[in-house]
Amino acid sequence: MRFDIITCQPNLLESPFSHSILKRAQQKGLVEIHIHDLRKYAVNKHGQIDDYAFGGGAGMVMMIEPIDACISELKAERAYDALIYMTPDGQTLNQRIVNQFSLMQNVIILCGHYKGVDERVRQHFITHEISIGDYVLSGGELGAAVLADAIIRILPGVLNDETSALTDSFQDGLLAPPVYTRPAEYKGMKVPDILMSGDTPKIEQWRFEQAVERTKQRRPDLLGEE
Ligand code: ADE
Repeated sequence: MRFDIITCQPNLLESPFSHSILKRAQQKGLVEIHIHDLRKYAVNKHGQIDDYAFGGGAGMVMMIEPIDACISELKAERAYDALIYMTPDGQTLNQRIVNQFSLMQNVIILCGHYKGVDERVRQHFITHEISIGDYVLSGGELGAAVLADAIIRILPGVLNDETSALTDSFQDGLLAPPVYTRPAEYKGMKVPDILMSGDTPKIEQWRFEQAVERTKQRRPDLLGEE
């Protein structure tokens, strides 16, 4: 899968993709991440990519011209399955949406800044608008990193233990059950006996019940029981 991320703050995106699972996924050739500095497509030699809003009001608006130039260059090279704009007024991200994106080949992610982008970009170029939650970030970069991380970790071959993404919270519509590791007893706090029993079917049953219980307690909305 290939990600082209368009941003006016490319340095904000360096770290998330340079470590751990996302780094390994790139080294294994399972994913390509290309960061594009919007300033390279600025409308003048001052590096201008934003301007005042028509009609007045505070805040700068990202201009259509540099974005069009960048997107056109990318589209001339390959076809894209989605052109995603990160914005707090987009569709709220969830595991179902992540799963859908994970089936795609090539995606562009546009990171918003300032007061947002010229509406014509959204109307004519963007295919999906995604928010990572009901709060406002200072830019779309952290949201883009969240989205890319969630997608990349479920791509086949990325995680070493193939089953581990399948048992994630949300993947089966339930929160994940509690987990424990050594020591079996710590300062009087014990691991549930069932997990030490070696009885795999019973353990699976216990995990399922715990997952249902946890979901009922914390996220009844996931069970349609709000
Ligand atoms: N940009 C600013 N706030 C955002 C949010 N909540 N989700 C995605 N992109 C954003």
